[in-house]
Amino acid sequence: MKTGALVLALVTGGHAVPLGQANPDSSPCNQTAMAAAADAYIAAQTAGQLAPLLAVTAANWTYIENNKDISLAGSTAGSILAKALKVDHRRTNYDITACATYTELVSASDPDNPYVIGTQIRHAGQQVVSVDSIVSTTGAWLFDAKKTLEHILQENWTTILPASARDTRSVLQAAGDAYLDMWSNATASAAVPWGTPCTRLEGSAYTGHNRPDDSCKAGIPSNHNQAPNTHRRYVIDETMGSVSVFCVWEHMMNAADSHELRLEGGKLRYVHTMTSCGSKACKL
Ligand SMILES: *[C@@H]1O[C@H](CO)[C@@H](O)[C@H](O)[C@H]1NC(C)=O
Ligand SMILES: *[C@@H]1O[C@H](CO)[C@@H](O)[C@H](O)[C@H]1NC(C)=O
Ligand SMILES: *[C@@H]1O[C@H](CO)[C@@H](O)[C@H](O)[C@H]1NC(C)=O
Ligand SMILES: *[C@@H]1O[C@H](CO)[C@@H](O)[C@H](O)[C@H]1NC(C)=O
Repeated sequence: MKTGALVLALVTGGHAVPLGQANPDSSPCNQTAMAAAADAYIAAQTAGQLAPLLAVTAANWTYIENNKDISLAGSTAGSILAKALKVDHRRTNYDITACATYTELVSASDPDNPYVIGTQIRHAGQQVVSVDSIVSTTGAWLFDAKKTLEHILQENWTTILPASARDTRSVLQAAGDAYLDMWSNATASAAVPWGTPCTRLEGSAYTGHNRPDDSCKAGIPSNHNQAPNTHRRYVIDETMGSVSVFCVWEHMMNAADSHELRLEGGKLRYVHTMTSCGSKACKL
């Protein structure tokens, strides 16, 4: 099937900064500018206009939506940014090593336009060089924006304190990789730092029962010979204990996928996923 190869090529071509690595010019990241850019992105999506984003982007910025590089060339045509969305929930995490942010966005109030979106924004030289979004809507895996919003609002994503209790960047990335490796690697699940309680929010499906013994292990892959989850892009925030990984979910129609994990005290506490199969309904 040709589409997969096309998507992979486009995703690979879209990035100047090596994924999951430090900013190559080794300049410290400007968190103020990163916050302003995340706000500009939200303003653009709220207005359905590119203008707020163009105020913070480098001339050569790229826009990737559901793993496809779309040249926006000054217009929102063909992208979700063309739609003005009411933002019912928004959380932004900061990777101050790779100069990148991850924003989780839910728009659930308009029944005709429900969206759950994850967006990674990368910076270089104080400007935005890429906006990379996983956009899920009706037809996406287990999609129901209203339910997703309800579950998100019950969770407790506070800054990990004290700072000495934070997990390192490498621990967080390894947890994300071990989790995503479970589909293609029989020993990966043993490397996931399972915690208790732990809850998974996959699309709108929630494994939590609001109990202290909630487990994330129910229904994890037993078939480890599936196509791997490839072309991973990371945003790691030690203060939030979080790792956001975007990838190609090859074993489900080459879907565009977002997985975000939060660890507390070295143990997995939350998993959020968004999985879009483009214009088709996702199915295994
Ligand atoms: C960081 O970014 C802010 C907002 O764009 C800017 O005002 C400030 O001068 C920058 N700081 C540095 C050290 O460049
Ligand atoms: C794009 O522009 C940024 C900021 O001006 C620069 O750091 C980066 O190297 C450029 N990337 C490419 C692929 O030209
Ligand atoms: C959220 O987590 C913080 C830090 O662990 C804790 O102090 C607070 O009580 C928690 N809030 C809720 C509603 O569980
Ligand atoms: C499988 O997962 C284990 C545990 O994370 C890891 O050590 C090993 O390198 C992985 N194997 C492959 C082929 O990726």
